[in-house]
Amino acid sequence: MAEKRILLKNCEVIDPRDIDTYLDRDGFKALAKARDEMTPEETIGEVKTSGLRGRGGAGFPCGAKWELARKAQGDEKFLICNADEGEVGTFKDRYIMENDPFTLVEGMGIAAYAIGAKTAYIYLRAEYHFLLDVLNSAIDQAKEKGFLEHLDIHIREGAGSYICGEESALMDSIEGKRGEARFRPPFPPTRGLWGKPTIINNVETLMNIPQIILNGAEWYSKLGTEQSKGTKVFSVSGDVERPGIYEMVLGCELKELVIDLAGAKNVKMAQVGGAAGKVIPYSMIDIALSYETVLGSGAVTVLDESRDTIDFVYRTMEFFAEESCGKCAPCREGTEVMVEILGRLAVGDGAEEDIQALEDLSNVMMLSSLCGLGQAAPIPVLDTLKHFRNDYENRISQSVFLRSLRGINS
Ligand SMILES: Cc1cc2nc3c(=O)[nH]c(=O)nc-3n(C[C@H](O)[C@H](O)[C@H](O)COP(=O)(O)O)c2cc1C
Repeated sequence: MAEKRILLKNCEVIDPRDIDTYLDRDGFKALAKARDEMTPEETIGEVKTSGLRGRGGAGFPCGAKWELARKAQGDEKFLICNADEGEVGTFKDRYIMENDPFTLVEGMGIAAYAIGAKTAYIYLRAEYHFLLDVLNSAIDQAKEKGFLEHLDIHIREGAGSYICGEESALMDSIEGKRGEARFRPPFPPTRGLWGKPTIINNVETLMNIPQIILNGAEWYSKLGTEQSKGTKVFSVSGDVERPGIYEMVLGCELKELVIDLAGAKNVKMAQVGGAAGKVIPYSMIDIALSYETVLGSGAVTVLDESRDTIDFVYRTMEFFAEESCGKCAPCREGTEVMVEILGRLAVGDGAEEDIQALEDLSNVMMLSSLCGLGQAAPIPVLDTLKHFRNDYENRISQSVFLRSLRGINS
């Protein structure tokens, strides 16, 4: 299957600093259509019918979320575009904002109209400071042309914290607090930023909106699978010849993406969905990429046969331990203990009980962590234990053997 550029149709085609090049390609027609010909409820209905699900990782149905905020009581409502893109291996939102900030602004204009928000924020990853200028210029140009009479868009920069991509920590950060996951419910559509109804959507989710409004929900829902409509923008990296951004119709095979398009060879495994994504062994390389199977943020990191399974999982867990906000014990302590066990295994000092300890700890963390960070951090551990158990067992038996040798020699 070849790439299908729908969301990315303007990328590397328009001048991201010149709104006229965007207007030449139907720019802002969808916003005009929504505001002139559709009620907010009809706009939400169209997004619901399209089947669009959030592209930030969790895959929550977008229209249903908007409806909750639309119906929520409150004189003030907010829209937040999540441009934190902290997920390991994900760089699609950066590509989008760098090359087509206008579609994002238009998508935000439609979303704000639908939910009834007059103020919106783009929460921009700290490392994307260099995008501030192009985003501000797109907002200013849209304003000058009269497309944003109903909406003020502000940009808030993060400070380099992975947890601040999680929606409740993100809102804490915008409010000027230390970013930590909040207890839920209440959920943001009813009680979000400063306690007001708030919709938080990923950059890519919002990029879909103008296409849906312009071409219709029926057209959109014909793309993809039963539960995964539309296209998905994948960020492919690791052991591939052609790393980069690929937009594919949902339901495409992992093999098509990493081998046919990105040119991977001697694949051992691919991790799909970022650091906490599922680990797919080569034997499952023809798996379809969709919400029914495996997707997440759309990061695909390929590891070839030269890579060490335990080293990979150890480094991944080090990242989670570093980035845990520390608010809940299962995540704060669990990630640290995992690092300790995996670190011993990695240097050949593991013990037979370690596998059971990793499994038990994984289950506790998944069941009792406060947010997605701690709940998902054990996924690569459990997946590699399932698909590459031999690697763990061999490392442990080598460790036991070497220890016994040391015992004899001492
Ligand atoms: C630890 C953690 C980090 C996250 N980072 C991001 C991120 O960088 N960008 C993003 O869009 N969503 C991220 N999410 C998901 C958001 O919490 C939220 O589900 C998403 O922004 C909702 O938008 P969507 O419905 O359009 O996907 C993260 C979640 C967790 C648990």
